[in-house]
Amino acid sequence: MAEYKLAVIPGDGVGPEVVAEGRKVLDALAADTPGLSFRYTEFPWGSDYYRETGALMPEDGLELLSPSDAILFGAVGDPDIPDHVTLHGLLLPMRRGFDQGVCIRPAYLYPGVTSPLTGKRAGDIDMVIFRENTEGEYAPVGGRLYPGTPHETVIQSNVFTRRGTERIIRAAFENCVRRNKKNKVTSVTKSNAQAFGMVFWDEVFQDVAAEYPQVETESLLVDRACMDFVRWPESFDVVVASNLFGDILSDIAAVVTGSMGLAPSANINPERQHPSMFEPVHGAAFDIVGRGIANPLATISAVAMMLDHLGEPEAALRVDAAVALCLQEGQVLTPDLGGEATTVQVGDLVVHMLSHG
Ligand code: NAI
Ligand code: MG
Repeated sequence: MAEYKLAVIPGDGVGPEVVAEGRKVLDALAADTPGLSFRYTEFPWGSDYYRETGALMPEDGLELLSPSDAILFGAVGDPDIPDHVTLHGLLLPMRRGFDQGVCIRPAYLYPGVTSPLTGKRAGDIDMVIFRENTEGEYAPVGGRLYPGTPHETVIQSNVFTRRGTERIIRAAFENCVRRNKKNKVTSVTKSNAQAFGMVFWDEVFQDVAAEYPQVETESLLVDRACMDFVRWPESFDVVVASNLFGDILSDIAAVVTGSMGLAPSANINPERQHPSMFEPVHGAAFDIVGRGIANPLATISAVAMMLDHLGEPEAALRVDAAVALCLQEGQVLTPDLGGEATTVQVGDLVVHMLSHG
């Protein structure tokens, strides 16, 4: 038990709406857990900040975040600012600057939630995606030559380091052993086309896999993996993929388990030299922003992942159980899950379930 220093970046779009519910859950936990407390520092960074200052976050932003034990993040994105500006201005600098190389994205079909896939019952889909988070296809390496001329030339490079690749693959195997479910790790690449980086990834996967002979392994091309996420999602346990593929696959995993509004994400610095960051998988959700109907459960589940990371596994389990109870009861759901409840009502029910579940 301790007091934890949390940096909170609500960000853009539905970010502030869902982050407020995450904080509400943390406050409720602190209120009834002796010795547990949270000290928040909120940072008003994102697209409005960009409009005022010309940058998504201040130059010393990472230094300001650095003393925190963890970061709770909402979303970034604005209809009037190009997505590459917003993403590279706030989210990616944190992931890279704090060396958060391991992104963990669980996807579980909860009791009470209907998958858009027919015939899937609660628990049938239960996987966790390990996404490489600091390099790969998201590395800002490349350039534009002769822009606006007929000779315009654009190069975008992928970066795969042995350290980064090995680290994410090892994290996937370690988690597979710890989670002790289907005991299988699937690696997703596109080595037929990307004959340098992804062939290298496959080699590292095989090397690391050799250290875990008890774990079943599978290596899929990404197009085939997308297909299998839809037709045989129950065949997956732990999935490990590059930055881009992990991102794409996690949206499919989220939607086949009911909604983008349920999917949490942890951006972990495994060495614990820097704060890790916790956020929903989803983005700013322009189509529902300001209506008070965004599902806060993805963020609340990310809060549970944060508590676990901070060394508060009991509190994490309480939050997970409260989320599961809300879904199972099925009376107070946001429209993405077929209900009519508001973001605030769902957050309130999670708080209620924490103590009365
Ligand atoms: P999105 O994740 O914001 O929305 C995709 C779909 O899921 C939309 O139909 C949305 O209504 C729904 N959805 C998302 N969150 C929900 C929630 N909590 N409850 C209910 N439904 C929810 O992805 P999209 O539309 O591609 O991106 C919108 C903006 O967000 C863009 O500017 C993009 O760059 C940014 N973005 C930011 C991310 C981040 O900050 N981590 C991640 C993904 C996108
Ligand atoms: Mg994404």
